[in-house]
Amino acid sequence: MKSNSRRKFLRSLSTGVSASILLPGLTIADSAGFFEDTLHKLNKIADPRSEAYWETIKSQFEFTDGLKYFNNASLGGSSIPIRNATRAYRDTLDAFPSKYMWGGWKDEKEETREAVARLFSVSSEEIALIHNTTEGMNLIARSFDLEPGDEVVLADHEHSSGRIPWEVWQETKGIHLVRPTLPILPKDVNDLVKVYEDAITPRTKVISMCHIVNTNGMMLPVKEVSEMAHERGILVAVDGAQSAGMYKIDLNDLGCDFYAASSHKWLFSPKGVGVFYARQESQKHLRPLIVARGHRDDSIRRLENYNTRNLPEVLGLGAAVNFINEIGIDKIHDRTFDLKAYFREKINTHPKLILKTPASDQLSGAIQVVEVQGRGVAEAKNILIEDYNIDCRPMSGFDLNALRISLAIYITKSDIDYLINALSEITDS
Ligand SMILES: Cc1ncc(COP(=O)(O)O)c(C=O)c1O
Repeated sequence: MKSNSRRKFLRSLSTGVSASILLPGLTIADSAGFFEDTLHKLNKIADPRSEAYWETIKSQFEFTDGLKYFNNASLGGSSIPIRNATRAYRDTLDAFPSKYMWGGWKDEKEETREAVARLFSVSSEEIALIHNTTEGMNLIARSFDLEPGDEVVLADHEHSSGRIPWEVWQETKGIHLVRPTLPILPKDVNDLVKVYEDAITPRTKVISMCHIVNTNGMMLPVKEVSEMAHERGILVAVDGAQSAGMYKIDLNDLGCDFYAASSHKWLFSPKGVGVFYARQESQKHLRPLIVARGHRDDSIRRLENYNTRNLPEVLGLGAAVNFINEIGIDKIHDRTFDLKAYFREKINTHPKLILKTPASDQLSGAIQVVEVQGRGVAEAKNILIEDYNIDCRPMSGFDLNALRISLAIYITKSDIDYLINALSEITDS
């Protein structure tokens, strides 16, 4: 498609005119580009440290009227360009189903894989396009033929997605799960590395860990744990549901063997799409979860053979990565830690709002949890949604009694001011 017609296509999406005639030939690189006027605006503002810049990004997201959505860690919203691109892919598929499901989008799918690989600084031969983190964590656990007494280390904050598949092996095969306790507020990274080091025995085969825990937003030292584990011949599987897209991640540098993520959170993709990374030399350990045509493929593609599948959403992931690239992952990275600093600084001025997420940028990012003293967390959450139209997630486990606040790129500093004002009114009332 000539760039002229691509522009026309994007414009037709923005005005709601059916795009099906223009669609064939749409490439992933084009599909979620900002609308031209938005790009123009961003270029004019130029300074990514200005609120005007991020207000413009925010204008690309569309939440229910008045809703302040601080709940991205539960589920992200896709921006308008991503939604439009995905809708257009769905329309195209339904206009000629057999063509697009069975090969018509082969190149576009590979483009998506490549875009994801580039975002995480790895090879496209190390990326499979799956459905979600739960699938990826199952894929890892189901691949291992462990013996009774073999050990897997899973800290106490692991999400059920990464825990249950191993628990099933414990019940049926007698493997042993070692469940160390993580400190809620570690002093530094070494505190956490030590927890893993102490949990290892000669029978340890796998360490499975979150990159960022969903409970209090703590970031775990995957790089340090991977180095330590590899010296002992232990494999490291990572649940990246809460980190993928939140900030800049180089999976090669992180050094883990496997990393599974749901792109419908911090990558803003359509729902039901996920990213799975397996280091080239560790791929030999993996077996497809679903055995279908293509399961003997030598490449990582053997892990994603589902026959008929949600291709518009998979290509929508390509659109989502393109959206992130239009902003730039470096800018998103800086903004994430800037928002976090702003939020923490404000909370810290209020004696009845207690942060329960470690402060350092090595130990947390855009997920912060805060206790509203004097209020049960369920009650606080209800008041926020009913009286202030603020959505966030209550976290009661681990004695947190805290609200989980997600600071995604569509959150501005004035949204944070609004939230903090609401929180302080709740404590005072
Ligand atoms: C840390 C973590 N892992 C896994 C999941 C499960 O994600 P999905 O339902 O997309 O598989 C979540 C969801 O919130 C999560 O926070």
